[in-house]
Amino acid sequence: MSLKVKISGTGSYLPDKILSNEDLEKIVDTSDEWITTRTGIKERRIAADTQSTSDLATEAAIAAMSDAGLKSDEIDLIIVATISPDAFFPSTACYVQKNIGAINSLCFDVSAACSGFLYAMQIAENFISSGQRKNALIIGAEKLSSMVDWEDRNTCVLFGDGAGAAILTADEENQGRRKILSSVLGSDGRQTDILHVPGGGSACPITPDNADQKLNAIRMQGREVYKYAVNAMRRAAEQVLEKSQMKVEDVDKLIPHQANLRIIEAITDRMGIPSERTFVNLDKYGNTSAAAVAIALDEANKTKSIKEDDIVLLVAFGAGLTWASSLIKW
Ligand code: ACO
Repeated sequence: MSLKVKISGTGSYLPDKILSNEDLEKIVDTSDEWITTRTGIKERRIAADTQSTSDLATEAAIAAMSDAGLKSDEIDLIIVATISPDAFFPSTACYVQKNIGAINSLCFDVSAACSGFLYAMQIAENFISSGQRKNALIIGAEKLSSMVDWEDRNTCVLFGDGAGAAILTADEENQGRRKILSSVLGSDGRQTDILHVPGGGSACPITPDNADQKLNAIRMQGREVYKYAVNAMRRAAEQVLEKSQMKVEDVDKLIPHQANLRIIEAITDRMGIPSERTFVNLDKYGNTSAAAVAIALDEANKTKSIKEDDIVLLVAFGAGLTWASSLIKW
């Protein structure tokens, strides 16, 4: 028998340092006006030099465990979604395990860029609904400031650092609250080149000869990504509604990936979702990739922007290409 799975807690962490559009005007040839009108972003958070992705993830994890009322030894699965891991190995999830003392956990990372948190959610749901695990800690965490070329105005204005987390638990009493109704995941490996980090891996190690080309920084064909993002997120949103036999009108709150306000508005215009039913916080944090939906879910929860019995639609799109959506009855 497959068990129902609920979200029993959420948490997030944003580093203290704020980098505003005005600050960026002093670093690259850009303007607050350009960034605001093209993206909706006003500022982003930047982690301290001493903070790694697992440090951000750990803070979000502690907040989510406290919200769920769980102790670290009750967690038996930790999945960290990230494209900016502490190191190639061990997994960032293992560092989080060490930091919080979750000695009974199975730990691994997921690489699906901005869709990563929703990938982690569905993987954890499968572990729990099949009875293999009881309490999963899923985290989206990024220190993208460590992978941005701070001389490239095409990309450096878009990204930020942060982490969000959720606890997934078997809904043993089947109370039906905060229950995951259905999910959709997808990938298209034919578009790997439109958003990627070309160097630093086995295909292109960084050598003394190529070190000055900044191959280990994010490269993006913005317009191409934009087109795919709008189509893939809309399709993923419609598919997950269809799976639960629901309509757009049933959605109380859409929590989309926070990459660009124009992408969000293109999707909501086409789907007919009004702005008051759409959660946006990218103006404060920029695009935090795998952390974005997780941070937004926690903020929506803590600010009561989502309420009991609301139908919440989470949808994301990222490099790979990848896309994902989940429908939750809050
Ligand atoms: N400041 C000022 N001018 C800029 C900046 C900047 N920061 N960046 C680019 N420009 C210039 C360009 O050089 C170009 O100048 P030109 O016409 O003289 O050549 C002009 O602005 C227009 O550039 P475009 O790239 O065509 O601008 P566009 O309107 O497409 O907006 C943007 C760019 C915001 C990146 C948009 O394409 C976009 O949002 N794409 C999707 C990005 C995204 O969501 N990425 C994350 C995906 S999720 C993940 O997995 C990480």
